[in-house]
Amino acid sequence: MNSMFTLTKDASGVAQLVMDLPNEKINKLSEAVMAELNLMLDVDLVNPGIEALVISSAKPGVFIAGADINEIEQIKSATDALEKSRRGQSVFSKLAALPYPTVAVIDGACLGGGLELALACSFRIASDNAKAKLGLPEVSLGILPGWGGTQRLPRLVGLVQALTMILSGKPVSGSKAVRMGLVDELVAHEFIEDKAQEFVERCLTGAGRKAILKKRRKHMLEARWPMSGIVFRKATENAMRRTKGHYPAVPAILALMRATCSRSLSKGLEKEAQAFSQLATTPICRNLIGLFHTDVLLKKERGVAADVEPHPVRRAGVLGAGVMGGGIAWLFSRYHRTVRVKDISWEAVGKAYSEAADYYRQLVKLRKMKAHDAELGMHRITGALDYSGFGGVDIVVEAIVEKIEVKKEVLAEVEGVVAADTVICSNTSALSITEMAAAMEYPARLVGMHFFNPVNRMPLVEVIAGQESSDVAVATVVALAHDLRKTPIVVKDSPGFLVNRILIPYMNEAGMLLQEGVGFERIDQLAEAFGMPMGPCVLADETGIDVGFKVIEELVAAFSPRLQAAPVLGGMIEEGLLGKKSGGGFYVHPGGKRTANAAAVKLVERYAQGSGSTRLSDEDILDRLMLTMVNESAMCLQEGVVDRADYLDMALIAGIGFPPFRGGLLCYADSRGISEIVGRLTELKEAYGARFEPAGRLQDMLAAGTTFLGRSNKGESRDE
Ligand code: NAI
Repeated sequence: MNSMFTLTKDASGVAQLVMDLPNEKINKLSEAVMAELNLMLDVDLVNPGIEALVISSAKPGVFIAGADINEIEQIKSATDALEKSRRGQSVFSKLAALPYPTVAVIDGACLGGGLELALACSFRIASDNAKAKLGLPEVSLGILPGWGGTQRLPRLVGLVQALTMILSGKPVSGSKAVRMGLVDELVAHEFIEDKAQEFVERCLTGAGRKAILKKRRKHMLEARWPMSGIVFRKATENAMRRTKGHYPAVPAILALMRATCSRSLSKGLEKEAQAFSQLATTPICRNLIGLFHTDVLLKKERGVAADVEPHPVRRAGVLGAGVMGGGIAWLFSRYHRTVRVKDISWEAVGKAYSEAADYYRQLVKLRKMKAHDAELGMHRITGALDYSGFGGVDIVVEAIVEKIEVKKEVLAEVEGVVAADTVICSNTSALSITEMAAAMEYPARLVGMHFFNPVNRMPLVEVIAGQESSDVAVATVVALAHDLRKTPIVVKDSPGFLVNRILIPYMNEAGMLLQEGVGFERIDQLAEAFGMPMGPCVLADETGIDVGFKVIEELVAAFSPRLQAAPVLGGMIEEGLLGKKSGGGFYVHPGGKRTANAAAVKLVERYAQGSGSTRLSDEDILDRLMLTMVNESAMCLQEGVVDRADYLDMALIAGIGFPPFRGGLLCYADSRGISEIVGRLTELKEAYGARFEPAGRLQDMLAAGTTFLGRSNKGESRDE
């Protein structure tokens, strides 16, 4: 058997257990690894000659990245899950019961089961390596830590910090871990071996151990009534506000930790195993694991063949210092690129500066960045009204007004000043990259790089390959987007690209519903109860009804007569009800509270007069909204706008916040069944017309008995 651990012992009795999974980049805790560890705990580690044990990893940047997710996915039943949890707990309980000090040396990712192992050690040290992240991310997979994490963590760091960590799933750095009492010492990454040795030497003496333990804070009060009652009430309020009751793991974690916070460890562990077993086979867990797989695939995605080398990007130029240009400039500087912003007015350049400063301020406030790093970031941004400084840039992102003639002129202009190999991008929302490229001397260098608003929060970047775009240019933009910590998805140059092509007909359908007398508040409530971060009318207000309407017109031009603009939206624009930016759209916000705008109510009533179909059921309304998107998505796959259903799902999650617990739009369609989707679309077509005609792709899938994501729904299934 390939050994996954190496155990050595020195003359003073200090044993070193080094984990190094053969043929893997990371360490993870599979059944086989746990079985080997179990055996060592039964045999080698009970050797009376051992005075202390140091557990570390031979993988650079990784301690243990967690349990093996494929094995979690294979859990078949609650009994299966219960057994798996109990087995893991028993291994870690043996580790915790070793009669000598045990020290986890964390110099890289220490997540999930990896942190639960570290928690079962008597001491932990972590390095200041940026890769040393400690966390329990199980909640993001729809489960809870099932190998003792929910029990040992609150005992160590207190209920408040443990709840925050487990409910958010977010990892912390080594320095935060030491501040919160999760690790006993922070050491320099460069000297970790020496420092670990020094630490273990202290652990060998009673006085040394006492000194370390003395530094740990006591958190007894938080776990006792009435304090615990307040802690749980607050945690429940916060978690429910964030997740709106859509993620069963959240109430399960709260209930488990509430029920066990003053119980014995052994009782707590048993309850933890039971709670884990209830979550591990739910559809939501399966959906979230599916997204995890897609995310892993997307992180490796290069957009073109693997042998195409992207150009390095150190210096960037941004054209247009408006809403998007300001955000894009900030993003470049945030990730260590120098950036030159050009606009036609100093006022706009000044606004871009203040937008960037604002984003940096938010990071500093949230303690995600040090003030001096934010200041350095600001120094990387410079502004100009001419092209000075553009000669040395590796990439240019154009974010000027959405007018093709102006864009063509500016692209030709900038081409004259940049170096021969500079890649040029357009952030256009809907204009054709191929058409713009036609105005350029070297059309191969133009690629669409479509960011979403606000740039600091939205993870998606659509990378649009025009007919002439070179592979190197596409690879450069994809690699850059990864570096900027975004999720790039390569899409075809076609009207609306991918996300707007699907989103805009859905918003237009909301307009159709308004014209039939369905109130916008009802529409928004239904969409939000489904899990959308905001309903279609709220979203229209946020983005500007005029901005959305322009894209509707583009799509109508491409897909008429199937798609027709809802006149009520044009009416809103005529009345100046453009959304938040004009002081009101469907809603106004007196005192920050969303309230229906009386002017919009009146206008909508005018358009709905005589429609008389306000008796639409909630199901009908939701189906008209969601199935519009499903149908359009099927057409996108059919036309090769994107070639994978799982990527499409992720694009909508990252681009419009489609609810992850549903696994993505097409995962949702699969869960309802293709025959039901086609059946409902056919009914809707009979009632409302050709726009609901089921896409050819759906009909084909129905005939072939296939689904969008394939039966396993794991993400690796290509939609052929
Ligand atoms: P904006 O109107 O806020 O900013 C455009 C800026 O470009 C203005 O500051 C203007 O002075 C400047 N400008 C105009 N002509 C110029 C030239 N020849 N050289 C340099 N600067 C020039 O527009 P916004 O919203 O930032 O949009 C920019 C682009 O990004 C558009 O193509 C838009 O479709 C796209 N986009 C917009 C999104 C949004 O939500 N606002 C989302 C995604 C893409």
